[in-house]
Amino acid sequence: MATWLSGEGIEIGALHHPLAVPARAKVTYVDRLSEPGLREHYPELADETFAPVEVVGSAEDLSAFNDGCLDFVIANHLLEHLEYPVRGLLEFQRVLRPGGIVYMALPDMRLTFDRDREPTSVEHLLEEHRDGAIVNRRAHYLDWSTHVEGKRGADAEAHAVQLMERGYSIHFHAWRADSFLDFFVAARREFGLDFQLVGYAVPERPEDNEFIHLLAKPDCVKVRLRPEPEPVHQDPSRPPESPPAQQPPRPSLRALLASSPLGPPVRLAKRGLRLLRAPAHH
Ligand SMILES: C[S@@+](CC[C@H](N)C(=O)[O-])C[C@H]1O[C@@H](n2cnc3c(N)ncnc32)[C@H](O)[C@@H]1O
Repeated sequence: MATWLSGEGIEIGALHHPLAVPARAKVTYVDRLSEPGLREHYPELADETFAPVEVVGSAEDLSAFNDGCLDFVIANHLLEHLEYPVRGLLEFQRVLRPGGIVYMALPDMRLTFDRDREPTSVEHLLEEHRDGAIVNRRAHYLDWSTHVEGKRGADAEAHAVQLMERGYSIHFHAWRADSFLDFFVAARREFGLDFQLVGYAVPERPEDNEFIHLLAKPDCVKVRLRPEPEPVHQDPSRPPESPPAQQPPRPSLRALLASSPLGPPVRLAKRGLRLLRAPAHH
């Protein structure tokens, strides 16, 4: 699906899994934390190589980028980390050129550590976008502390407060493939989100836990179609194969005989035989 990506774009929150993109796509890496900040936040990833963070900024406020200046935005396993996912999607829309693409993978909560949480409802998300998510922040951390980290009672409360004070990047929201689509449709209707879904993939292998959306910002002239895959490079030391030459049809034996010197006498003899065999008219 990364075939869709070309030109200049950003990947937000690539961390240790930057998306492999075609050579025709140039990526700038954006994260809410600088690389040292990420190293401190994720000590368990000490042995991993991180994508180089070139712009520090939040997905909910991409003010480092002008309107309509990018060809693509990659946001894998990011949206669930946003307190305001609608704000994030609207920012993606703002910074993209018409026809620009969002490549967005999201974990399906049934296949991750979110499986014991309640799926985030559409109403919850719309309400938070309208009225502010800050009032729910504590509840989100407590939900995480209880249903993801398995803490109970006062322990769960204390752990939630600790995570909140550190600004730990939890999954504020959790979706299944279908509940995300419900949210996407509602955000289009309510908040002027104007992406078209041009590609969609569900988990296929047992080790997959994500579903992928390809969204295109509408272009007033064209409908975007799937681009051709990158050309496969041929071995330059080998001459290009030419198609097999067309052979002319082989003449039949009958035609060969007719065009040979034997043709006229044979035709004469055949005519005589036909006359001899013809019934006499009375
Ligand atoms: C779970 S990691 C995803 C890593 C990788 N993209 C992947 O697919 O596995 C989430 C990343 O998003 C970043 N992130 C979380 N909240 C963000 C925000 N509001 N703005 C920008 N980046 C954010 C985190 O710092 C982290 O790098």
